[in-house]
Amino acid sequence: MSEKKTRVLVAEEVRYFLQYVEVPADIEIEWLPASAPVPAGDYKGILPLLSRRIDGSVLDRLPRLAVVANYAVGYDNIDLEATRRRGVAVSNTPDVLTEATADLAWSLILAVSRRIVEAEQLARTGSWAWHPTLLLGTQMSGRMLGLLGAGRIGQAVGRRAIPFGMGIAYWDRVAQPEFERQSGAQRIESLERILATADVISIHLQLNDETTGLIGRDQLAGMKEGSVLINTARGGIVDEDALCEALESGGLRGAGLDVYEGEPRIRDCLKRLSNVVLLPHIGSATEDTRRAMFELAWTNLMLGVRGQPLRTPV
Ligand code: 8YV
Repeated sequence: MSEKKTRVLVAEEVRYFLQYVEVPADIEIEWLPASAPVPAGDYKGILPLLSRRIDGSVLDRLPRLAVVANYAVGYDNIDLEATRRRGVAVSNTPDVLTEATADLAWSLILAVSRRIVEAEQLARTGSWAWHPTLLLGTQMSGRMLGLLGAGRIGQAVGRRAIPFGMGIAYWDRVAQPEFERQSGAQRIESLERILATADVISIHLQLNDETTGLIGRDQLAGMKEGSVLINTARGGIVDEDALCEALESGGLRGAGLDVYEGEPRIRDCLKRLSNVVLLPHIGSATEDTRRAMFELAWTNLMLGVRGQPLRTPV
């Protein structure tokens, strides 16, 4: 007689990466496209994308669920109170995406500071003439990078500032003495002060009750004249209407965004501005990283369905 298999729900969009893991014989995968609701059933595990909200109403449909193995390092899509109450374990994908995301933050820093997108568009028109004041930007050396959040990704972004000759400041609840020692970074305890002093502010915070709308009208107004704002963390940390105003008024030199308040929607006011570089949430989008994220999420899923401690629990 054949044993009943353990059923798991896995985001259809990561199917490509299944070739890199082993699927035990007792596991049955049901692919779940992002557009479909979570079906009710006896699933033991779910591996969702960040775009899927996992809350009490979803969990109520999954009475046997043991684990949510998020395909992301962020887990603001998961109601942790609801999972805790039901005894459902939760994991994320830290470390494996740190370097890719830091690279992308730097792509935005350079693109905004050196007006790469405007320049590329002009080059394509074919109707440009070299001129000493054509597309003047800001150079990095001698300037100050201000990190909001100095966790793994914030620190990786900070380390990359060293060869560019930038000074590094960070604002974080916790001091990072090892990071300070390695990079010369200076901790600034006041948000107002780091915003007022840094030439480039790069956000590397989690989205939660404390950080939602953290960078609003007052904070943007308090940023150093001519500075640049980079956000590769979560859109909800920045008030986008206020950001549009700050960019339109010329208070800020520019912004580089990979994340938005209402993804995948991007406000028209941001799209109209030439001093903004907009990317479609590709922070971790490298072949290696997305594969490693899947391998880690899958490992957590398999551990979770067997009631074993997760590799990277939240
Ligand atoms: C992803 C991310 O690009 O991991 C996160 O929290 O925001 C990015 O790595 C994406 O969310 C993958 O689902």
